[in-house]
Amino acid sequence: MNFDEAKFILEKYGQTHILKSYERLNSEDKEKLLNQISKTDFEKISELYENAKKPAETESAVIEPAKYVDSAKLSEEEKAEYIRLGEEAIKSGKLAVVTMAGGQGTRLGHSGPKGTFDIGLDSHKSIFEIQNDILKEANEKYGVTIPWYIMTSKENDSDTKKFFEEKNYFGYPKKEANFFFKQGELPMIDEEGKLIINENGFIKEAADGHGGVFEAMAANGVLDDMRKRNIEWVFIAAVDNVLVKMADPLFIGYAIKNNFKVASKTIPKKSPSERVGVFCKKNGRPYVIEYTEISEEQANARDENGELLYGEGHVLLNLFNIEALEEVEKYKLPYHTAHKKSSYMNEDGEIVQPEKPNAYKFETFLFDAFAKMPEIGLIRGKREVDFSVVKNAEGDDSPETAKRDYIKFHNQG
Ligand code: UTP
Repeated sequence: MNFDEAKFILEKYGQTHILKSYERLNSEDKEKLLNQISKTDFEKISELYENAKKPAETESAVIEPAKYVDSAKLSEEEKAEYIRLGEEAIKSGKLAVVTMAGGQGTRLGHSGPKGTFDIGLDSHKSIFEIQNDILKEANEKYGVTIPWYIMTSKENDSDTKKFFEEKNYFGYPKKEANFFFKQGELPMIDEEGKLIINENGFIKEAADGHGGVFEAMAANGVLDDMRKRNIEWVFIAAVDNVLVKMADPLFIGYAIKNNFKVASKTIPKKSPSERVGVFCKKNGRPYVIEYTEISEEQANARDENGELLYGEGHVLLNLFNIEALEEVEKYKLPYHTAHKKSSYMNEDGEIVQPEKPNAYKFETFLFDAFAKMPEIGLIRGKREVDFSVVKNAEGDDSPETAKRDYIKFHNQG
């Protein structure tokens, strides 16, 4: 795209402020900016902006509790059967793991990728190493090398790869695993719908949310690679959980035995007000209702056994059959808008650090894919065994709580 073509498009969409930035760049960067403009879907950005400005729609939907099984309440026979089926799948090389590590980790405030963070163990293992060890242990136990795919984003891709290289992949067989792939991104816009310019004079873009994992797996050859390896089950989880069981035979066997193409391990809410999305059925389809969406009445409702009716937290512990992944990849997931603080370059070429949210960021959520499934299997796991996340710098879900839970779990043997 040449300058005139870019100008024409920018004028059409009211984005000519980008030209000011263009004038300040050297010729190589000018070329880069023109290239970025040519790849930007301005129509989509306008549409996303219009949606962001609209008040949230109050659609009438039928919300019902979702069925789940509690792994702690399975009979010994059921448990043994699930474990047998799951182990069989793992031992025959049918399992792959995807770690989603493309997020910005804004709340934690660590300067590098979240996986490189040291939660303060005596060993000073990073979160990546903790997860690597979990997989290596499974590999030894089952006599396989589980292919491990790590999703990064443009922002942290090179730092993530460099970290693994420096650490010699923590001894994980690099050739067979450690397939890094980058997720997609979308421009950020300000409250007037103008594209935000970053500190280098380019259009500021941000990762397109964890829902981007499906498209990114297809676009980067991850699904093809899995097919070549005869993978049937793909466990997809977040980078920030230091207790994540990446190869849990009971979970896998549960999905196999019950013919679920997608299954999720839930963690029961600590209290009705815990800020976590929970599973439900919306208009008969599997759905995760966000803590911001759920009514007080729903959040507190209990069944005859005193269990919360909407208490099964979705914490990104998901298992997909490869066929389901191939299917989901074709659907377009809805975009959610986040209103965030984002530094930018103003028209005078100065970098501005805003005091309050000034920008819209657009993301898709992995769990919106569930609504595309007629059914998904839900099995309740245990918080102290399966889930302790690093989200905040302090307080709940912080390095301190993750370290405490990690030590507690490992000391139990
Ligand atoms: P969160 O939504 O909690 O985001 O992501 P985050 O990046 O960890 O932290 P904040 O919100 O900026 O403070 C949950 C998981 O999904 C991944 C994250 O890396 C994390 O493992 N994720 C999130 C992606 O891989 N890509 C995204 O675009 C967003």
